[in-house]
Amino acid sequence: MACDKRFEILFEPVSIGPVTAPNRFYQVPHATGTGFRKPQTGASMRGIKAEGGWGVVCTEYCSIHPSSDDEPSSTASLWDDEDVRSNALMVENVHRHGALAGVELWHGGSSCSNLYTREEPLGAWSRPAMLPNPVQSRSMSKRDIREFRRWHRDAALRAKRAGFDIIYVYLAHEYLLAEFQSLANQRSDEYGGSLENRLRLSRELLEETKEAVGDTCAVAVRYSAAGGFTDGEPLFEEHRTMLELLAEIPDLWDIVVDDYSLELGASRFVKEGALEDYMSWVKQVTTKPVVSVGRFTSPETMLRQVQQGILDFVGAARPSIADPFLPTKIREGRFEDIRECIGCNFCYPFAVQGAPIRCTQNATMGEEWRRNWHPERIAPKASERKVLVVGGGPAGLEAAVWLGRRGYAVTLAEARNELGGRVARESATLPGLGEWAHVRDWRLAQLKQLPDVQVLLDSTVDAAQILEFEADRVALATGATWRQDGRGRAHDKPIPGWQDAHVFTPDDVMDGVLPQGPVLIYDDDHYYMGGVVAEKLRSAGLEVLLVTPSGRVSSWAKWSDEQSRIQARLIELGVRSETDSIIASLGAGRAELACVHTRRTRDVEMASVVMVTSREPNDALYHELCERIDIERVGDCSAPGTIATAVFAGHRYAREMDADQDLFRRDRPRVS
Ligand SMILES: Cc1cc2nc3c(=O)[nH]c(=O)nc-3n(C[C@H](O)[C@H](O)[C@H](O)COP(=O)(O)O)c2cc1C
Ligand code: SF4
Repeated sequence: MACDKRFEILFEPVSIGPVTAPNRFYQVPHATGTGFRKPQTGASMRGIKAEGGWGVVCTEYCSIHPSSDDEPSSTASLWDDEDVRSNALMVENVHRHGALAGVELWHGGSSCSNLYTREEPLGAWSRPAMLPNPVQSRSMSKRDIREFRRWHRDAALRAKRAGFDIIYVYLAHEYLLAEFQSLANQRSDEYGGSLENRLRLSRELLEETKEAVGDTCAVAVRYSAAGGFTDGEPLFEEHRTMLELLAEIPDLWDIVVDDYSLELGASRFVKEGALEDYMSWVKQVTTKPVVSVGRFTSPETMLRQVQQGILDFVGAARPSIADPFLPTKIREGRFEDIRECIGCNFCYPFAVQGAPIRCTQNATMGEEWRRNWHPERIAPKASERKVLVVGGGPAGLEAAVWLGRRGYAVTLAEARNELGGRVARESATLPGLGEWAHVRDWRLAQLKQLPDVQVLLDSTVDAAQILEFEADRVALATGATWRQDGRGRAHDKPIPGWQDAHVFTPDDVMDGVLPQGPVLIYDDDHYYMGGVVAEKLRSAGLEVLLVTPSGRVSSWAKWSDEQSRIQARLIELGVRSETDSIIASLGAGRAELACVHTRRTRDVEMASVVMVTSREPNDALYHELCERIDIERVGDCSAPGTIATAVFAGHRYAREMDADQDLFRRDRPRVS
């Protein structure tokens, strides 16, 4: 299909040193939880991105030596020849579709705990590891530095043998080379102190990498253009001077910022293109091509940044995860088919915990090899079964879309007068979650293209109606309801006295019910819900106390890199919090709180409580019918979870219709 003329510039080839990218779509390095432990899983996923039109596809951070080990996160590695083979697999998959393959050589320095290898971590100076392990690095001697330079060179040569086109020198994200560059590096030798000294190792590495592989491979640098850990006025400090000093050495600049919660900003806090003010100067100081990121989902933003000379390449991690076929869809003008990243950051927690990556929008992410799932294709139907899907939330919608794509006759019955279920409600009523509506919107756009899927709104169905419908299979995707009684992690049983208090749930808040203040929010869920409800009620003028058994507000959100921003926002709004506490009992106008450590109690006065503890599956119909018809619970109605879990469950239901349900394939360590 011919390219939409307006976007042609995005599909121009661009030279990067000795190699040429077929277009400007550049999947920047991102971890997947696969790495050296699951090479086939990772290689298939990257290959599919190349198939989807990404002109450059990079690995995740790739360890150059056992002294740089990020266990339990599974990094790529280039320690030996065995590693060359598994990386070559990824390269082959990427090359098959005409894209360039890049590798991000990585040494984590003092940030690593080296839990797997038990090597002593190495640092510009001796300091504690970033992760919460009782580990401290060794200050690198001149001999260590010489060794490190040799490891890096050897890894670059291995990368070249694996067939990579672009080889990174990784100067960002507080890893070893950023450590050397830091103002805190006060070493007394020629690698510390003055700016030139602190930059020395980066320069040496760049020159040595170019000398080793630069004849056929491009050498890229990942670099932070701005420091500081707050939004607002960018802090360029020495970042600009350092970049100017190295400006013409690499073949490409891949630009990020120091504040990871901005670079990887969740949509609740950070909008598309947010790095522009921090990096728009880079192209003025180098003639080399520049790539940067910004959760680019809008083709217009991509176009503008390229046309205005801010970027040469549109860099993407999350947009390429949510839609591996994003470039192809732009080229073909299929804008309504773009599965927009919603900025929920649910891809990040698993990648960094060593579990395969997953994505709220793209259920196939991480499943390409092990389940043979493709983000755009699915097997045609294998029977003439008629399917009734009850419930049009994320699970029901996803099941209907993919069953419809397979060609099954599907009826989707939704009790409310709109589709989207929890996604529609959360995005419309809770602060900052507006972009999450794209989970619904993409699926609605797809349903419009599927004539065999019939949608019935305002259709509450009971058991008799389901039986009467005579579907061959019924998928019950009726979601879950927040519990009022406080049962959850900390309480196996209802909280004593809960019936005497004015208790509300997030469902009430989403239905527009405003509790009376002062209100106590009891967050035993630990993800986003407690925090967003607190924000909403406080913004409505209520006095809010957030109580949680955890040591921090929304503690699980540390994995999605949002926790600190959530807590900061609540502090700024004037939400009080009481961490490490449970509700021991409730009464009219009072709550008895207990410290989780000492069990000491104290009473607080409040007018109402919002329970954010756990959810009850809406599965009554299933229990009524499961012995009589072919009915299955799907998503929250089976096991309440995240939106991503519900989408995955709906997708799986559709894929497994009339298919053998074998255990998925596993990457296995070689036993020789
Ligand atoms: C799941 C995930 C893993 C990441 N892993 C890496 C990594 O291994 N190396 C790296 O330099 N950046 C990593 N990043 C950061 C991305 O390269 C990118 O800079 C950031 O996600 C912002 O780009 P985006 O808005 O297109 O997602 C990761 C991001 C994500 C979402
Ligand atoms: S999990 Fe969320 S943030 Fe990550 S790629 Fe998917 S939609 Fe985007």
